[in-house]
Amino acid sequence: MISSRWPRSSDILPQSPMHREFLLGLKSSVFYLPSLGTDGSHHCGHLLNNIDILNLNRNTAYSFVKLKYRQAPIIMSTATEPTFSFATTAEEVATTFSNEIKGKNVLITGSSVGGLGFETARVIAKYAKLVVITGYDEERLKLSEDAIKKDVPNANIHRLTLNLTSFASIRKAAEAVNANPEPLHVLINNAAAPFVDFKLTEDGLETQLATDHVGPFLLTKLLTPKLLGAATPTYTPRVVFVSSVGHSYGTGVDFEALTSPKPEKYVKPNAYFQAKSANILTAIELSKRSNGKINAYSLNPGSIFTNGFTNANTVPLFKEMGLLLPDGKPNPTAVQWKTIPQGAATTVAAAFDPQLNDKPGAYLEDSVVANDKVASHSSDPVTAEKLWTVTEQLIGEKFTF
Ligand SMILES: NC(=O)c1ccc[n+]([C@@H]2O[C@H](COP(=O)([O-])OP(=O)(O)OC[C@H]3O[C@@H](n4cnc5c(N)ncnc54)[C@H](OP(=O)(O)O)[C@@H]3O)[C@@H](O)[C@H]2O)c1
Repeated sequence: MISSRWPRSSDILPQSPMHREFLLGLKSSVFYLPSLGTDGSHHCGHLLNNIDILNLNRNTAYSFVKLKYRQAPIIMSTATEPTFSFATTAEEVATTFSNEIKGKNVLITGSSVGGLGFETARVIAKYAKLVVITGYDEERLKLSEDAIKKDVPNANIHRLTLNLTSFASIRKAAEAVNANPEPLHVLINNAAAPFVDFKLTEDGLETQLATDHVGPFLLTKLLTPKLLGAATPTYTPRVVFVSSVGHSYGTGVDFEALTSPKPEKYVKPNAYFQAKSANILTAIELSKRSNGKINAYSLNPGSIFTNGFTNANTVPLFKEMGLLLPDGKPNPTAVQWKTIPQGAATTVAAAFDPQLNDKPGAYLEDSVVANDKVASHSSDPVTAEKLWTVTEQLIGEKFTF
């Protein structure tokens, strides 16, 4: 969480990785202080007395502190220190990384009011140069724009029509983005069509896998030149894939369901779990193949009562699964629910946390890296490579970096 006070020695926990790094840091002259905790119950006493605070913004979780008795500055990263928690909100994460968001252009798919994409767009819009929101329904897209502008009157919002079940729509949307002279710094693949009935798309794909994996894959491919154009010596463009804990259920991507979908073999939740597994694999493979030119991340936002839980299509299934009560409200004993602001936090962290710069392909939960929570079938490099090749064949295009 973000501290609203100046740092104390108690911000460094004895025996924590940060403390150990701190001790190592005594050999150098500048120490990179990570996000400040609010827990003031621990002490490392005299150590901070040797430090001058050089530059600390109360609203920023990063500071440089200089040890008095050394001169030449070096910077240490304490990337492993968990700064955020289950309860952290997207607004808090955006405030923390406001300097990283400033000047950036961001495209977020699936931005309907009442969903995670909307909240992500809303908090980013407070600082970003441009936020492109997308949807296949013009009316809902306009509602999202109006709601963001009501809250952030100066926000620079562009509406983009995008139907991820249609290659033609994706190509048209990408053309519009590519025609805009503005660079694109961050692409957030958030949209999904969870648990829908079996239906083939106009391109012959099953709808969930098309919306949640193949469509975002094509969009990412078409926007890759634009993303690459946003790179600078100090900035690497990012692609974020909103996955789910569901990635760990089942056995991972079913290549037959992806390439030759059959209604008799279709099981709604399984298609969702496969698509969410594909999101993580794609983030890993994109990071690998771009070889440092694009950093991709995936994440689990948690369990959040969004539009996805009020859809006539999904409600009966979620009731059956015990996630919803008979009256359609979230079952508090089934899972630990997050609010929408809490649910969108991890997406904002994946898009802007500078501590992730040297962790391409990372998977996040509760706004911090959680690679240990990825099921093996969703991180297997052979599967990641196979999925990439098969999906390139499905879209009929190959990435170039
Ligand atoms: N809520 C959770 O508990 C939870 C848990 C784990 C992961 N997630 C993930 O979080 C992401 C956001 O979901 P959410 O919970 O915020 O649900 P949501 O409000 O239903 O968001 C899904 C978004 O995707 C859009 N979408 C659906 N089909 C599309 C298509 N064919 N083309 C373009 N956009 C399309 C929806 O637009 P319309 O509103 O116009 O249909 C909506 O804006 C998803 O990737 C989901 O898998 C959510």
